Amino acid sequence: MLLPVVNATAKEPARAAAAELDAAGITKFIQKMPLPPVLTPYLNTGSTSYYRLTLKEAVKEIVPGLRTPLRTFNGSFPGPVIKAESNRRVVIKQINNLAVPTSIHLHGAHVPQDSDGSPMDLIPSGGGTKTYTYPNTQPHANLWFHDHAHHMESENVFRGMTGTYILTDDVERRLPLPAGQYDVPISLRDARFLENGELVYAMGDFKMRNVILANGRAWPYFEVASRKYRFRLTNTSNQRFFDLSLADDSELVQIGTDGGLLPAPYRTNVVKISPGERADVVIDFSRYPVGTVIELRNKDIAPFESADVVGQVLQFRVTRTAPDHSSVPERLRTLPELGTATVNREFDMRMDEAPGGSAYINGKTYDMDRIDTEIAYGATEIWTVHNSNKIAPHNFHMHLVQFRVLERNGQPVTSGPETGLKDTVPLKPGETVKLQATFTGYRGTYVYHCHLFDHGAMGMMANMRIS
Ligand code: C2O
Ligand code: CU
Ligand code: CU
Repeated sequence: MLLPVVNATAKEPARAAAAELDAAGITKFIQKMPLPPVLTPYLNTGSTSYYRLTLKEAVKEIVPGLRTPLRTFNGSFPGPVIKAESNRRVVIKQINNLAVPTSIHLHGAHVPQDSDGSPMDLIPSGGGTKTYTYPNTQPHANLWFHDHAHHMESENVFRGMTGTYILTDDVERRLPLPAGQYDVPISLRDARFLENGELVYAMGDFKMRNVILANGRAWPYFEVASRKYRFRLTNTSNQRFFDLSLADDSELVQIGTDGGLLPAPYRTNVVKISPGERADVVIDFSRYPVGTVIELRNKDIAPFESADVVGQVLQFRVTRTAPDHSSVPERLRTLPELGTATVNREFDMRMDEAPGGSAYINGKTYDMDRIDTEIAYGATEIWTVHNSNKIAPHNFHMHLVQFRVLERNGQPVTSGPETGLKDTVPLKPGETVKLQATFTGYRGTYVYHCHLFDHGAMGMMANMRIS
């Protein structure tokens, strides 16, 4: 039997497609920046903390007055904070009540392959579960978790699937850094909306993602006391780089990076984080009288963007005084020894800059069944990574290891935030970095990739096998 052809417009007019939300029309600094909830274990034993997280859809007010459907961990956006300790295991059961498969990756963590959340290791949609075990056999670090389902991670993350994982140890705890309510995690990213509040995801449409979010709110404010604060910043953007400065260009003290504290604090007026990178920063608001309002701004904006829109990030309001017994010591930690490298490899990152193109590492797009790099267990290697695009920036992220940046564009890295332990490193067009990593702890297959989520999804990803 032939079904009658239904002309929808004849009966009821088709809903007009919602128009794009004009980011310039959003009133800034009228919403308070929320703090993500800290997740409580449902069980603690002598060696292990057990958690449960449910992936589910939720609706949040990101832009004042608009309701935005999201894919979340436990209904939080951004996802909750998990607080872990070195050498104490964390076990997380993930329950996927979303309509899409997922794979949960703990970014920056040293974990066995079956808990890495690799692109093909999916948790089925509609109630599928998987239990991830994190041994935490690594020093303190500001890690984060996010979806990594092959080819879907980009959209899943854009729609909300990120969370914070703070791993601490005695080295960090002994320091007199700002703590408690003065130690604040902040996730920064951009987004794109329709006037009805829905997010718009389209692969590669960087130009339109012009609403800046801090902890899941568009351009919020945050009330502070006139004292020192520690901010643990994560860039959870799809492609946006942040070069963060205070409006008066005053001092920011960067104390840490991806893999934990720097050997010594780095005093600067700009803190840079590309997608996936973290920065641990102390700001001393005691230099401002109560009543001061000061903006955190982004200086890395593209020529087609407006500094009045995407150049603003977050507003600090100094609303009170408070005692401050914290300080930033001149020595923060000793880094593990570098070791002697025995293997040298080269990697070329490149993408087609025309719409609908692919992205490559060493001329190949990602193939889950192909091993691109074979590594001998225990080896120390130097990887020279080059961005051969003329317009597109990239960055380079490796699973399993924290590496060191030896050189940038032929110059040895001897000061600044790249002297710390890194798992993600930015590469502006034409740049080259030389990295050193030691592959110990686990054997197995792990990915390395560009952490601009769209680029990874377009194929700028590869497999390494440690055996
Ligand atoms: Cu943040 Cu392979 O990931
Ligand atoms: Cu990762
Ligand atoms: Cu890239």
